[in-house]
Amino acid sequence: MPKHFRSLQEFSKIELLGLIDRAIELKKEKKAGKIHQQLMGKTIGLIFEKPSTRTRVSFEAAMYGLGGQVIFLSSRDTQLARSEPLKDMSRVMSRYVDGMVIRTFGQEVVEELAAYATVPVINALTDLYHPCQVLSDIMTVIEKKGPVEPLRIAWVGDGNNMANSWIQAAGIIGFELTLACPEGYEPDGEILAASRKIASRPITLIHDPEAAVRGADVINVDVWASMGKEDEHEERLRAFSRFQLNRELLARAPAECVVLHCLPAHRGEEITDEVLESPQCVAFDQAENKMHIHKAILESLIG
Ligand code: CP
Ligand code: NVA
Repeated sequence: MPKHFRSLQEFSKIELLGLIDRAIELKKEKKAGKIHQQLMGKTIGLIFEKPSTRTRVSFEAAMYGLGGQVIFLSSRDTQLARSEPLKDMSRVMSRYVDGMVIRTFGQEVVEELAAYATVPVINALTDLYHPCQVLSDIMTVIEKKGPVEPLRIAWVGDGNNMANSWIQAAGIIGFELTLACPEGYEPDGEILAASRKIASRPITLIHDPEAAVRGADVINVDVWASMGKEDEHEERLRAFSRFQLNRELLARAPAECVVLHCLPAHRGEEITDEVLESPQCVAFDQAENKMHIHKAILESLIG
């Protein structure tokens, strides 16, 4: 059975921190000019049913940067768009490539792809999770603030795929996480309950953004309407209006607090231009670290 990367939940703390350590090492080596070839002769297929800039390019750059190759498939160009069963696509692709990276809507699509694949399957975002992103974000936090366990992390905004993956990370790794979400936009209740069961530090869900950022070492924000929720944009603008990370809200947090945004950002909605462009915001380091984390994941799963 191949090892997959469907959610953070299937990994231990040692495995997740090991991937981050390896990504930090690969980043240093790349900056020192070292050429990596450990995936020479290997090919991955990227199957994307939603748009992407960072995840697609960073997976492609990661694979090429390790000496491997990539085939990109937009779902509308495959026979999936003409109703070929996913279980057939999975077995066919497994005969050609050494791993598959998928961005899609339902988590069940990733699960089905993996169930029929004979090569590793990596989740590059679903409606439920964004596990690779959260791993790059924790890598960024460690680079900026040191070990993550003593830190207090705040999530302000939608209880979306990113929030769910942060909750899983908090449970597995053991750091304090406070989520402030508008009523009706809370994260997945089962994921929250399961993570609280294994957590060594509190995972708290509240509805007050000011309380969440007070004392926070890190504040995370993300779009108010994720991909697939565009038709709810107007009602979400109203529901989330108190949850914008602006100068006033940031002033409630300690001065040395770091701001995370996985990007793309909607300036003037979940974050102001001023905060996104401020030295406290590390969004572009997060974006870079995606490539290093993807290298570590690819090396570990298909190397
Ligand atoms: N952060 C992130 O996943 O960005 P893309 O949608 O551009 O891949
Ligand atoms: N929550 C966002 C993340 C984008 C990278 C979305 O799913 O659209």
